[in-house]
Amino acid sequence: MIAATELARGGGSGPAAALPWPLPLGSLVPAARAWELEIGFGKGRYLLARAAAEPDRGFVGIEIASEYFRETARRAARRRLDNLLLLRGEALYLLATALPAAFAETVHVYFPDPWPKAHHQRRRLLSPEALDLVVGALVPGGRLLFATDHPGYGEAVEELLAGARGLAVRRWPEGWPEGPRTNYEAKYVAAGRPILRLELGLADERARAPHPAALPALAAATGTGEGGAPARHRCGGCAGCSPPSARTGGGWRSGSRRSSSRWRSGSSRRS
Ligand SMILES: C[S@@+](CC[C@H](N)C(=O)[O-])C[C@H]1O[C@@H](n2cnc3c(N)ncnc32)[C@H](O)[C@@H]1O
Repeated sequence: MIAATELARGGGSGPAAALPWPLPLGSLVPAARAWELEIGFGKGRYLLARAAAEPDRGFVGIEIASEYFRETARRAARRRLDNLLLLRGEALYLLATALPAAFAETVHVYFPDPWPKAHHQRRRLLSPEALDLVVGALVPGGRLLFATDHPGYGEAVEELLAGARGLAVRRWPEGWPEGPRTNYEAKYVAAGRPILRLELGLADERARAPHPAALPALAAATGTGEGGAPARHRCGGCAGCSPPSARTGGGWRSGSRRSSSRWRSGSSRRS
């Protein structure tokens, strides 16, 4: 079952399905000249710092854990970060449905759950079957930044990326220029744990196709035969693409104002 999805921005939060999907990012944050996405933001340290430092950029965060989502939303509201949209829910589901394709200049994935057991590995965020959803969020020429302390997962991701078409991959052996970005990174750096940091550049559009290693599974799932896997459908307008409550309307809760028009009108920190 897929849990209902919440969206928080500025001082308000409510069901994301009360808005059209894919979400109209441009009208939610009209001041944003470019967008970045963090998947699994945890306590939100990186997103909160970036959104505060760069009010003319839009930031989207996805987090499945309610307590992290709520705490980060509270901090964002206190700091009046109207350029930060937080989504609570499952990342791959939200990438496939709630977020527009090709919107983010940079996607950040820091210390995702490694799912080390062999029979759990298909749950990994970066897997052959899911890579096209993550890469699909990038604008042409965009990049994905990834870090893990788990050697097995790191090697699997490097191998996965090396086998993808249209992606340029490089390591960041010295760490990020500004130091640790997230809580987990700070903790692991302090403990002296080795960390693999990777940057993946979307060098050409072939990278948006399903990963070659995913084709047998996609073919089996769709009955199309290898190589014939259809592109993922996401028009945002048909019954299959719209979440149920987008078709029926939805409730709403706001810290300061009680209206879904808050999302549409926005309340830019600088206006
Ligand atoms: C190990 S923590 C890392 C948190 C943060 N990125 C950091 O580096 O401090 C992994 C985070 O990803 C979130 N997460 C795990 N699976 C997820 C999913 N399928 N969709 C969205 N978030 C997920 C977890 O709730 C958790 O906050």
